[in-house]
Amino acid sequence: MFNWARWAVLGALVLGAGATFAETAIKRFGFGRAATAEEIAGWNIDIDAEGLFLPPGAGTVAQGEAIYEIQCAKCHGEFGEGSGLNPALAGGKGSLATPDPVKTVGSFWPYAPPLFDYVRRTMPFTAPLSLTAEETYALVGYVLHLNDLLPAEAKVDAAALRALRMPNRDGFVVEGDRRQESATKPCMVKCRKEPPRVISASPPPSR
Ligand code: HEC
Repeated sequence: MFNWARWAVLGALVLGAGATFAETAIKRFGFGRAATAEEIAGWNIDIDAEGLFLPPGAGTVAQGEAIYEIQCAKCHGEFGEGSGLNPALAGGKGSLATPDPVKTVGSFWPYAPPLFDYVRRTMPFTAPLSLTAEETYALVGYVLHLNDLLPAEAKVDAAALRALRMPNRDGFVVEGDRRQESATKPCMVKCRKEPPRVISASPPPSR
């Protein structure tokens, strides 16, 4: 049955001065509470490509190097060359259009500000969100320095990241329809020229 009284109360809540969606939901479902401005600020840390929401603060490449050696080098290598399954952060210049592309901050990332977002949000891998804004600026500066995109004496802040033009900035935009450019027609049927050969096998399942 349609309960007019309940809907009237709910409507008044929605329209009422200062009533938020959260408050309405609390009344309706009987649990939860509105998030505080402080809690929302803790989560609301995304930074857009142009760096609109970069926080205040700054760090130098030199400071970044000192932190990097302690917190990052063990996984990403002393010069950002990567190790094991941990990706390289530097190098790969000019490799994207080759059969063996190496995607790094320098070769692949089109904008610098999201690097701040990524590092602050996720790194070090075992302690995400543990870096201050200053430490993050410094580390971002050092990673950019490893890619020859900033000099060793550089200081990094929001304005510096916004101003930096990454080498692959235009690499994600294809002008016109370039599907026609594929010279060879891909083989779709009976493409294998030699019979298949087993090169390794999993052990049989144990009983
Ligand atoms: C315990 C190992 C580990 C440590 C320590 C670590 N990382 Fe990472 N990092 C990773 C792994 C693994 C990935 C790939 C994650 C993925 O692709 O989901 C990664 C990805 C990255 C990337 C993105 C690379 C790309 O181009 O996609 C950056 C930048 C980065 N790490 C920076 C740092 C910095 C700066 C530090 C030090 C504060 C750090 N990492 C510490 C393991 C680590």
